[in-house]
Amino acid sequence: MTSNKLLLLPGDGIGTEVMAEVERVIDWFNDRGIASFETESGLVGGCAYDAHGEAISDSDMALADAADAVIFGAVGGPKWDDVEYDKRPEAGLLRLRKDLDLYANLRPAICYPALADASALKRELVEGLDILILRELTGGVYFGEPKTITDLGNGQKRAIDTQIYDTYEIDRAARIAFELARTRSGKVHSSEKRNVMKTGVLWNEVVTQVHAQDYSDIELHHILADNCGMQLVRNPKQFDVILTDNLFGDILSDVAAMLTGSLGMLPSASLGAEDEKTGKRKALYEPVHGSAPDIAGKGYANPIAMIGSFGMALRYSMDMGEWATKIDDAIAAVLAQGLRTRDLAVDGDTVISTAEMGAAIVRELDALTS
Ligand code: IPM
Ligand code: MG
Repeated sequence: MTSNKLLLLPGDGIGTEVMAEVERVIDWFNDRGIASFETESGLVGGCAYDAHGEAISDSDMALADAADAVIFGAVGGPKWDDVEYDKRPEAGLLRLRKDLDLYANLRPAICYPALADASALKRELVEGLDILILRELTGGVYFGEPKTITDLGNGQKRAIDTQIYDTYEIDRAARIAFELARTRSGKVHSSEKRNVMKTGVLWNEVVTQVHAQDYSDIELHHILADNCGMQLVRNPKQFDVILTDNLFGDILSDVAAMLTGSLGMLPSASLGAEDEKTGKRKALYEPVHGSAPDIAGKGYANPIAMIGSFGMALRYSMDMGEWATKIDDAIAAVLAQGLRTRDLAVDGDTVISTAEMGAAIVRELDALTS
């Protein structure tokens, strides 16, 4: 059995609580002898700043670089509101994405049948929903320079963010979206703002070209990002794969999350390019929800997005796709039993804690495999 090296970065707020539930799942795999995971832990975000004055240290970056997969919790909180911009908690996550070149962010939004009533939308709109957002993750306005605030000296300041995309960045993200679409319903919506942004014009052009060259079997639609947001709440099941840039992907994935019942349901995978020799990709797996400082430490957090993210690690980094499916099945079964963390509960549901949810999923994994 090959051993897989995992770097666990729980981070801040509810990050530590949901990570504890992933550790429960990891122990289950190790104890059953199904896989061998070696884990190390590091600091990222506000806790890393408190420990060594940076949102992630060079030594933890080196561990991340050497790991088969990084499992990431969440970063940030009001405690660090006044920290200088380059050292704010989010800078740790952005450095991981950028330095490991994790350009393809996969954010699946699936509405489990048992949760259709927890969604903000009517049951018939979301039941059976299965969307995959492919968010470009290392370009655009997140990283473009200049990124400054200048004092104009007349009582005014000027803030500048820069949205930049080169052909290759759009090309490689589009290819991942088309490849994924081939394994699903064969449909991609590419979303940008070509009506006001030059990056949108180029995005549209490159996606069209890649499609014509290598993926003409896929049904491609172009949709303006504002319309995409609207359509996601009007008729979400028209979508299969949504391909979009870094900023629009951030926003659209939060919208998609609420369709599934809660922000606490969405896992994600951030993947780099395939290594030519080993065929392996650098990868980081994180829940889409944040650190939720308001509920941290109370046992309220929903660990499903975090455990689902570990499932994605099994699928995309460990070649254990059938086990990823078992984790999804275990989650579905637990939800079907009516067990709910607070974020998912509607009137009359039994509310359980973060740890109870983790334990219930592991129990269900046992039941599914015995
Ligand atoms: C996300 C988060 C991050 C982002 C923050 C924490 C920097 O919102 O992963 O969606 O904006 O990308
Ligand atoms: Mg976000």
